[in-house]
Amino acid sequence: MTVQLDLIIMAAGKGTRMKSRYPKVLQKLAGRALLSHVLDQAAQLQARSAVVVTGHGAAQVEAAIAGAQSAASGFDLKFVRQEPQLGTGHAVQQAVPALAGDGMAIVLSGDVPLTQADTLQGLLDAAGQDKMALLTVSMPDPTGYGRIVRNAAGTVQRIVEQKDASEAERAITEIYSGIMAVPVKHLTQWLSRLSNDNAQGEYYLTDIVAMAVADGVPVVGHRISDVLQVAGVNSPLQLAELERAHQQRQARQLMEQGVRLADPARFDVRDDVRGSKADLRCGQDVDIDVGCIFTGKVTIGDGAQIGAYCHISNASIAAGAVIHPFTHIDGEQAGASVGEGALIGPFARLRPGAQLGREVHIGNFVEVKNSTLADGAKANHLAYLGDATVGERVNYGAGSITANYDGSNKHRTVIEADVHIGSNCVLVAPVTIGAGSTVGGGSTITKSTEPGSLSVARGKQISKANWQRPVKQAKA
Ligand code: UD1
Ligand code: CA
Repeated sequence: MTVQLDLIIMAAGKGTRMKSRYPKVLQKLAGRALLSHVLDQAAQLQARSAVVVTGHGAAQVEAAIAGAQSAASGFDLKFVRQEPQLGTGHAVQQAVPALAGDGMAIVLSGDVPLTQADTLQGLLDAAGQDKMALLTVSMPDPTGYGRIVRNAAGTVQRIVEQKDASEAERAITEIYSGIMAVPVKHLTQWLSRLSNDNAQGEYYLTDIVAMAVADGVPVVGHRISDVLQVAGVNSPLQLAELERAHQQRQARQLMEQGVRLADPARFDVRDDVRGSKADLRCGQDVDIDVGCIFTGKVTIGDGAQIGAYCHISNASIAAGAVIHPFTHIDGEQAGASVGEGALIGPFARLRPGAQLGREVHIGNFVEVKNSTLADGAKANHLAYLGDATVGERVNYGAGSITANYDGSNKHRTVIEADVHIGSNCVLVAPVTIGAGSTVGGGSTITKSTEPGSLSVARGKQISKANWQRPVKQAKA
């Protein structure tokens, strides 16, 4: 029988060293709140519930996380408040009434984002039905951490905090990560016996280890070697260090699947600003140059190439497409898609609802929004296509735009197959440009055109022969 699992996540601390007006656990790693990274582990472990202990910025934390954590994550999410914050033992005391009273609890911190679910599973396996298991790590410099005190036989006896430790205890390099698995029925009982008679005047959760030993409950030290998995965020520097470590981990996974990253140290995959979860999927023989950022859900087909410094969000790039450097694609909720063999950029901008067919060319300083471009259509320079339906093989000239907005409403422009739009045209929507027709450069088109026609709508050219320029007059 598998034991029921509840998570207790301590997130009441202030995070003074972040020097931010926002609660620390809402600071973002890969575009996602630190606390959300921790809650994602609960989802992977099939936990029954997660109890988050909030304090500093409690309302803000609760609002941000309750909104972001989808019902689909499959566990019951509860918040309890800890006011004032009297230590980690006191924090867990606040959580206990929200627990079911049976099963196993894992205690975590909301500011330790990179613990892997399989590590926590290992901790749970070590705890079994009724033991206490401590996640530990050995560090060359353990300063500041609680030390794992073992007896001569190597059995864990207690944890001693840095500030309460003797010289000999401070020499111990095995530290407590802040993460433990503990049977809930014992936890409740031990917490009620905690005192704050120590160097910091706090209720230490770590004091329950000695109580377990005294009560004959076995305590297992589950030691891992990856320090990053237990590293906390206390400062902007540490946040940046963990961000890089996380990105390197994602980069390595993609490279193991065959994706060719020009430089795994200059590559980022993040949640998007609206909270759509980072999810980059690549086919075979995908090349990604340096400095690219992928946010939200992005798929890249076989043989596609992404040039340097592109930002691609919520989009699908089909096989063989080439995205030249400095291109910005953001499909937001509607999505954006680039067809097979299309050439995009450099310096192109694709916005929500841009749907580009096969072999479409979008060149520099071209913006496409809520528009469909059929196979082989081209807009190569300095243009805007908004709310447009563009047919096959259309050539859309430099500097041309769809005037899709009348100040109140948006209207569609339809450009049928094989149309040639000259340079610097304004197509005032709603308007349809008939198949195979041509629009002369500089035209402002307000009426639909017939298939196969030529339309020119601009001031007629006047040329005066032998024109003498005015001569500058001397000042009086
Ligand atoms: C704690 C452990 C220490 C361990 C270290 C690992 C205790 C007494 N010590 O020390 O053995 O090596 O973590 O990082 O547990 N929090 C609350 N309410 C409080 C106090 C803290 O919610 O009243 C939260 C903090 O926001 C933080 C977590 O608990 O997320 C850990 O608290 P912190 O003060 O950082 O504990 P440490 O002194 O680092
Ligand atoms: Ca800490």
